[in-house]
Amino acid sequence: MKLPRARGPVSTAVFERILQARDVLAGPLRVELASGDPIEDDDLQVTLWALYELHYRSFEDVDEGWEWAPELLAVREQLEAPFERALREEVRPQVAAVVGAPGDLADRLFALTDSFEGPSLAEHIQRHATREQVQEFLLHRSVYQLKEADPHTWVIPRLEPDIKARLVELQFDEYGGGRPARVHQALYARALIEAGLDASYGAYVDDVPAITLALSNATSLFGLHRRLRAAALGHLGAVEATSSIPCRRFAAGIRRTGFSDPVAFFFDEHVEADAVHEQLALRGICAELVKATPGLEADVVFGATACLTLEARFAARLLEAWDNEEHVVPPPRQEAQVPA
Ligand SMILES: [Fe+2]
Ligand SMILES: [Fe+2]
Repeated sequence: MKLPRARGPVSTAVFERILQARDVLAGPLRVELASGDPIEDDDLQVTLWALYELHYRSFEDVDEGWEWAPELLAVREQLEAPFERALREEVRPQVAAVVGAPGDLADRLFALTDSFEGPSLAEHIQRHATREQVQEFLLHRSVYQLKEADPHTWVIPRLEPDIKARLVELQFDEYGGGRPARVHQALYARALIEAGLDASYGAYVDDVPAITLALSNATSLFGLHRRLRAAALGHLGAVEATSSIPCRRFAAGIRRTGFSDPVAFFFDEHVEADAVHEQLALRGICAELVKATPGLEADVVFGATACLTLEARFAARLLEAWDNEEHVVPPPRQEAQVPA
């Protein structure tokens, strides 16, 4: 994958720097952030996405020596702070309601994920979406799904053995249980190919809006900071607890619009797996973590609500465009239909 295109002054400055060979004497990198909502800020989100990516598979045109460059970590912190603040601000009332409520934490988190208000992308895909809308949904999700599970894996060494064992059990399934073709990332790549889309890692990063990048960036933010480990696990819990039933709907919509079984298979796989994973994540991991360290409860709930809120914003964005018979990102087959 090549470095994405810059979307403003911050990404321009950062990308110009990392396209050069690492120079330990290059000195600080000064950037100035725009005002406005960090979650929807294209320049901020694409820069953050690229800086995080240095820790994953990185870019063929970027020197690997940049990964821990102090000037990049300083910029990253400058971008993460307003992003995290905005997320915390947005979910403050829901977090307070769940943290202050009586009862078992896992039950409260299940109640939160069941009752969270937001437009249902799964219902639309199941019943109404066109083929092009299904393709568009798949291409947005590719930004995260092709690295599915990786951001939560950063948390493993940060946990005590009992909770670590449960997280590894869950992640083992995400990584295919020892079968390379069943790694969920690989299942997603297969779905993309069968749906006529580009399955190469990061293929659609240049096309998607800030909100799609923010979905991926929030998991990296939580995963890469030890202090946010509880938020990462709360995020994982929310992902798992909102997956099984929606995935059944996504699979039905994919078949309804005439795509082949391999496109639906990624979602089929999550129907049963995540019915198990949601119990493991919320009861075996999140609730047990908080039992051992009660001070982490608010961050578990923060991670879960941040996930739900970003997903709701993403769904609203797509559904609004589709209601107007438009696309946020036109799927490639349509783009190819340019009149001669
Ligand atoms: Fe998965
Ligand atoms: Fe899962």
